[in-house]
Amino acid sequence: MHSPSDNGLIAVTGATGGVGGRVARRLAERGVTQRLVVLDESRAPELDGAQVRVASGYADGDGMRGALDGVRTLFLIPAHETKDRVAEHATAIDAAVTAGVQRIVYLSFLDATAESTFTFGRDHWHTEQHIRASGIPEFTFLRMSMYMDFIPLMASGDGVIAGPAGDGRVSVVARDDIADAAAVVLTEAGHAGATYDMTGPEALTMAEMAAEISRATGRDVVFRNETLEEAYQSRSSFGAADWEVEGWVTSYAAIATGEWSKVSGDIRRLTGHEPISFAEYLRR
Ligand SMILES: NC(=O)c1ccc[n+]([C@@H]2O[C@H](COP(=O)([O-])OP(=O)(O)OC[C@H]3O[C@@H](n4cnc5c(N)ncnc54)[C@H](OP(=O)(O)O)[C@@H]3O)[C@@H](O)[C@H]2O)c1
Repeated sequence: MHSPSDNGLIAVTGATGGVGGRVARRLAERGVTQRLVVLDESRAPELDGAQVRVASGYADGDGMRGALDGVRTLFLIPAHETKDRVAEHATAIDAAVTAGVQRIVYLSFLDATAESTFTFGRDHWHTEQHIRASGIPEFTFLRMSMYMDFIPLMASGDGVIAGPAGDGRVSVVARDDIADAAAVVLTEAGHAGATYDMTGPEALTMAEMAAEISRATGRDVVFRNETLEEAYQSRSSFGAADWEVEGWVTSYAAIATGEWSKVSGDIRRLTGHEPISFAEYLRR
């Protein structure tokens, strides 16, 4: 157990989104004073003890610096994927340091390296490196696996999940469990310099998850493996930019390599409860 400490004012970014919104609610439930840094004030959740500040995005250095004035701890949610995401993150991190933030908790990605198969995963590694080099006194990385609620959405209208994931396994995780762990890290001392892996309790193949969806919903869902070439071809009509299609395709390819098969006990150790399994998530 970590002893409680004065983590000062906590700023939460991405509070209009999935993980940031869940974290902000958990902090409010704990009676924590927080500042929500949002792009659009009208969409900020209304929570007891929450101040709201607007910055037009991580790339808005002046806006971020103003929004983080007086903040001690920053929970940094990664931006929506863009070609310039690392530079956007770097601007936000530099703004935090200039504003006097003492601690950054960054939501990173499982097994992030400069050569991650998942091309968007490389952004997370570069962001981690920028945080390490920024001069911020304390940082903690929460490296998330793939969200389990995304898996059913990957099925086409006729119930096919198609991608180059092969027989690889991925330790899918629920956003509620990530938020539970983040709330602990944000409100306790003792996590400086730590990297925690936010995974579910088991690593499953896409075929196993398709079968689980069929069992839970009664709808016939199957996984069909694709070659990399087939995957690029099948997504070529979507009208997306090349870097974006590469991110989608390499998310399956990363599963095939086993890079996301790690099962960590970090959520249990931090929160005291087991992360939810895919089958249980579907049942609920
Ligand atoms: N692990 C996975 O399987 C997985 C899957 C998809 C994405 N992700 C990554 O994980 C992040 C967090 O997941 P989530 O579920 O919370 O995503 P989400 O529901 O899309 O929320 C993202 C939040 O970040 C804000 N945001 C996005 N770009 C920003 C920018 N450039 N500057 C400032 N704020 C920005 C959004 O603001 P608005 O509401 O105003 O847009 C929103 O509040 C995503 O942004 C994405 O990078 C992970």
